Amino acid sequence: MTTHAIQSRDDVMRVAKSETLITPRFYTTDFKAMDALDMNPVRAEWDAMIAEYEGDNNHDHFQRDATFKDEIRQLPPALQQEFLDFLVSSITSEYSGCVLYNEIRKHVDNPDIKQLMTYLTRDESRHANFINASLRDYGLGVDLANLKATKKYTYFKPKYIFYATYLSEKIGYARYITIYRQLERHPDKRFHPIFKWFERWCNDEFRHGESFALMMRAQPHLLRGANLLWVRFFLLAVYATMFVRDHTRPALHIAMGIDPDEYDYRVFDITTEISKQVFPVSLDTNHEAFRAGLRRLVDASSGYTVAKAQGGVIGLAKRAGWALVGVATFAKLYLHPVHRHDLPQRMRVAPAW
Ligand SMILES: [Fe+2]
Ligand SMILES: [Fe+2]
Repeated sequence: MTTHAIQSRDDVMRVAKSETLITPRFYTTDFKAMDALDMNPVRAEWDAMIAEYEGDNNHDHFQRDATFKDEIRQLPPALQQEFLDFLVSSITSEYSGCVLYNEIRKHVDNPDIKQLMTYLTRDESRHANFINASLRDYGLGVDLANLKATKKYTYFKPKYIFYATYLSEKIGYARYITIYRQLERHPDKRFHPIFKWFERWCNDEFRHGESFALMMRAQPHLLRGANLLWVRFFLLAVYATMFVRDHTRPALHIAMGIDPDEYDYRVFDITTEISKQVFPVSLDTNHEAFRAGLRRLVDASSGYTVAKAQGGVIGLAKRAGWALVGVATFAKLYLHPVHRHDLPQRMRVAPAW
């Protein structure tokens, strides 16, 4: 069940600004270190990728066609709430990328990084604005300038930005394409026209992920030794966050005809397959014990939410209890043995799902 009721613009801003373990964050980083990056080790692949950005094959995509408005219908209240929550969380996450990339762009002189960040900002700003138009249909909409000025920023070292951003771009691709394919097979379940845009949209996210893949492959030390402990941490943090968040939206998944477990495991499979281009380790998400751990995290999260609503000393004690369960379960999942593989010679992957 969605914990936030979204009825007004204030509600939208409150949800967009909220800071919980599963809500999207805004990031800042060490711009000097970003400026010092050297892309020469991957020059040929880098130049080919930049040429794709220049070609801008999605330049005409993020505009509504004549039928868009006609297809918007009244949704049952529970679905409406979860869909709005989904839109607000998606826009926050798109705009988080936009703000971070734009800040890096402004603070570096390195021509490779500046050029890339200009394209990434262009794409994410289109994505965020396209979602915002759908919120405005409901008389809502996120005040992006206000969000930029008032949302809390989390500082991440560049290395964490690489791991986290790479994964969120690739998992974003896997999520959008999985929803798109499902609704392509079952058009009767496409309850809002925005989903028709997901196919070409997700190719942007895929390419963004490719950019971070190349930036990591240009710095091979990020992908071996003790850094693999960080890779494992970020893989788990990103996967677990998505799993818990998706399990707070049952009506949305029923409406799309998707079982959230199956959907999330499919998204993990796709992301894991792609991430072998950079990460020599991957999580064992098809193992029964691993899946049991993920379900336990969902229990811990909903137990925590209920205890918080209960309040008082007993509520506080219960919250502490569920927080402990969450931490212990996360630790157990972290220690679950990972798969290992060699990195391929060819770094780039095609969006083939
Ligand atoms: Fe995006
Ligand atoms: Fe992106």
